[in-house]
Amino acid sequence: MKAIVLKEIGAPENLILTEIPIPSIQEDEVLVKVKAIGVNPVDAFVRRTKEAFDWVYQYKGTEENIILGWDVAGVVTQVGKSVTRLNVGDEVFGNFKFIGQANAYAEFVAAPEKEMILKPSNISFEEAAGATMAALTAWVSVVDHGKVKKGDKIIIHGASGGVGHYAIQFAKHFGAHVIAAASEANKDFVLGLGADEFIDYKTQNFEEIVTDADIVHDTVWSDDVNHIERSLKALKPGGKLLSLIVYPDAEFIEKAKKDKNIDVIRVNVRYPEENYFEDMQAIAKLLELGIVKTHISQIFSLEDMHKAHAAIQSKNTVGKIIVKP
Ligand SMILES: NC(=O)c1ccc[n+]([C@@H]2O[C@H](COP(=O)([O-])OP(=O)(O)OC[C@H]3O[C@@H](n4cnc5c(N)ncnc54)[C@H](OP(=O)(O)O)[C@@H]3O)[C@@H](O)[C@H]2O)c1
Repeated sequence: MKAIVLKEIGAPENLILTEIPIPSIQEDEVLVKVKAIGVNPVDAFVRRTKEAFDWVYQYKGTEENIILGWDVAGVVTQVGKSVTRLNVGDEVFGNFKFIGQANAYAEFVAAPEKEMILKPSNISFEEAAGATMAALTAWVSVVDHGKVKKGDKIIIHGASGGVGHYAIQFAKHFGAHVIAAASEANKDFVLGLGADEFIDYKTQNFEEIVTDADIVHDTVWSDDVNHIERSLKALKPGGKLLSLIVYPDAEFIEKAKKDKNIDVIRVNVRYPEENYFEDMQAIAKLLELGIVKTHISQIFSLEDMHKAHAAIQSKNTVGKIIVKP
């Protein structure tokens, strides 16, 4: 089968199209013929950063081929002995073996049955592949931790990106008043997803415009080291600060609690792990009902994986970018 192998840590061009054997499956796994692959900022970070590679890919040093990627949609072609829920022919999607070696940049993947969700039949493989890590992250943040509810005022940073565009839709679904921060060029896009207000983070200081938010979903890794402090300012007492990139230190967390009774929560996509299946089922239902949609801005072929990586690391792609084997 065709797969994209990482030759060595470094530039996108180190991702090379290679021919390798189809993987064999464990008893609790299914073999999936991949129809679409989701690409995320973490893929590019792992590709170019040794520390992240060692940790996120769980590098052992004995691997014959290094294959990145954790998000797929496809068709089950084989099931392991202890598989009971899925059958050959099922259309599935999921974020799997994260953290670990999912080897998703390939024509076939061996995926644990418990991490593959039935794809709603009325959405495409591309839309499903997009609604994996990014959608789950948005759900874990605004629903699991943020407990967003009717009437809440929520600021969503990075609103035009993969995570942000789902976060807007989830928050609207639960009845929140959504303030989306993005670039001016993406204003119509985020308002079109249902956001009630727009902030151009390049020309406006969000914390001067909003000082009474119930929740801030902060996905910004910016040159502005004070971004998370600014998000704190935008919250009303008793609010929640959801930090998806920065790891706030104990002092920051304690001070936020003491000064404004604010809960500061570091969000991790696969934590707690036991929420995964239920959360993905909830996302699948909203996709099926058409309440939530994946916006795909670019589709690349498998051999152009390096182009997909160059795009995602630019930090200005809109919605999701997808790769098709
Ligand atoms: N904690 C977790 O478990 C977890 C999981 C998934 C992702 N993440 C992180 O969350 C972030 C968003 O992920 P994603 O998949 O949505 O990425 P993405 O698709 O690349 O979106 C990033 C968005 O951020 C905006 N942006 C870029 N630079 C910015 C800046 N300096 N200030 C404010 N906004 C800026 C861009 O909006 P405009 O183009 O409109 O400017 C872009 O739409 C990434 O850094 C990712 O690593 C964390």
